[in-house]
Amino acid sequence: MKPLRIALTKGRLEKSMIGLFDRMGWDTSAVADKGRRLILPVYDRQTGGAIEVVLAKPADVLTYVGHGVCELGVVGKDTIAEAAGDTAGGFYEMLDLGFGKCRFALAAPKGTDFFGGYTGKTVATKYPHVARGYFDSRGMDVQIIRIEGSVELAPLLGLAGGIVDLVETGSTLRENGLEVVEEIMPISARVIVNMACMKLHKPEIEALIAKMEAQIS
Ligand code: PRP
Repeated sequence: MKPLRIALTKGRLEKSMIGLFDRMGWDTSAVADKGRRLILPVYDRQTGGAIEVVLAKPADVLTYVGHGVCELGVVGKDTIAEAAGDTAGGFYEMLDLGFGKCRFALAAPKGTDFFGGYTGKTVATKYPHVARGYFDSRGMDVQIIRIEGSVELAPLLGLAGGIVDLVETGSTLRENGLEVVEEIMPISARVIVNMACMKLHKPEIEALIAKMEAQIS
């Protein structure tokens, strides 16, 4: 049987996930020495079994798992929430890994009253779907402007009255004179599994997820 493939979000989640594989007693040396390679083997030292780690951008993890070319993926709940089912194929969210913790929040320049007044409100975000859902749930008609990165700039430049963004330590907000107005949703890394692959490879996938779960609980 060909090895299971797990798509990992490059960067911080990749490092935490490789740390988890290390604690599971797996050999992750190929990832440590990856150079520019994007598909790398990881070995279970006990059984000699291998899986393949695929390094991808967050939204692409959903695409590869959705299409079933990677059976599993590790991605932040933020990416799952923003895609909101708009992914080819389907996947199950199987496990909360408990790392990559942060939260979605509405933030605005310190001391301003975002919800006050009757003038139209504008928010900048990398997560327009999440922002739309949040304001819809409050019955608020807010203009949402999509920004690709460093959304904190938008209120500083006068483009928006607030932002919807991820907050981890809060330093980015603090250092740019912004503060949380309201927390929207807690975020952490999740293991996802393609629905059809789950049927085809249930025992192997369940065994792998059980080993991960044993190390995080
Ligand atoms: C995220 C987020 C904030 C920052 C929050 O950006 O968009 O800018 O982290 O973290 P903090 O609360 O610990 O300061 P990221 O570093 O992912 O970069 P990006 O803006 O390029 O997406």
